[in-house]
Amino acid sequence: MLVTALCKGRFLEPSLDLLARAGIRFSEDVASSRKLIFDSEDKRYRVVLVKPADVPTYVEYGAADIGIAGRDVIMESGADLLQPMALNFGYCKIAVAGPKGATSINGSDHPTIRVATKYPRITLDYYTVRGIPVEIIPLSGSIELAPLIGLADRIVDLVETGRTLKENGLEVLEVIAESSARLLINRAGYQTKRDEVLRLMQALETTIQ
Ligand code: PRP
Repeated sequence: MLVTALCKGRFLEPSLDLLARAGIRFSEDVASSRKLIFDSEDKRYRVVLVKPADVPTYVEYGAADIGIAGRDVIMESGADLLQPMALNFGYCKIAVAGPKGATSINGSDHPTIRVATKYPRITLDYYTVRGIPVEIIPLSGSIELAPLIGLADRIVDLVETGRTLKENGLEVLEVIAESSARLLINRAGYQTKRDEVLRLMQALETTIQ
């Protein structure tokens, strides 16, 4: 049985759709249930539902053989995983944003900049590489609020449609990376369950072409 970690939340429906198109179906309604573990009708796959940021952890430690998560959370996790496939949903950007008209900041002659984010690792890397002193303010949601009420100078966050930024008088200052859903595979599992993993990858490839 291949254990697959899926994200609760906005990735769940497209992930289940993708699996269904690859022939993996469940007798229960996974999206509306409160259960966390589901076996497929053919008993060849088990799906576990976890928080998006935890998918790389489950796969890295081998509690799940494979997972589906955004490139953003994979980058942030720093987990040691195989990432063989980009899937065709969850497109967004990880970007630095700030108040409209804010000037860009270059070099270390600038006083420490305060950046609110749920991506502390990506943010620290971004500013460190540029030699800009940064104080990271870790938040877990409503990041756009931080510069509006004086908690931070900038944010590093996901931008999908850009609507949240716009409606809060903020704008993208620089795109750090493009993100979309990815298939993740545990390194050891790729060897020990190679046939099952390859069969699944083949089925997914056919559906996303
Ligand atoms: C995400 C992200 C932005 C928003 C971007 O938040 O953190 O706030 O979506 O989407 P948009 O560009 O289409 O407006 P999410 O909805 O996950 O909620 P959160 O504030 O709890 O992180």
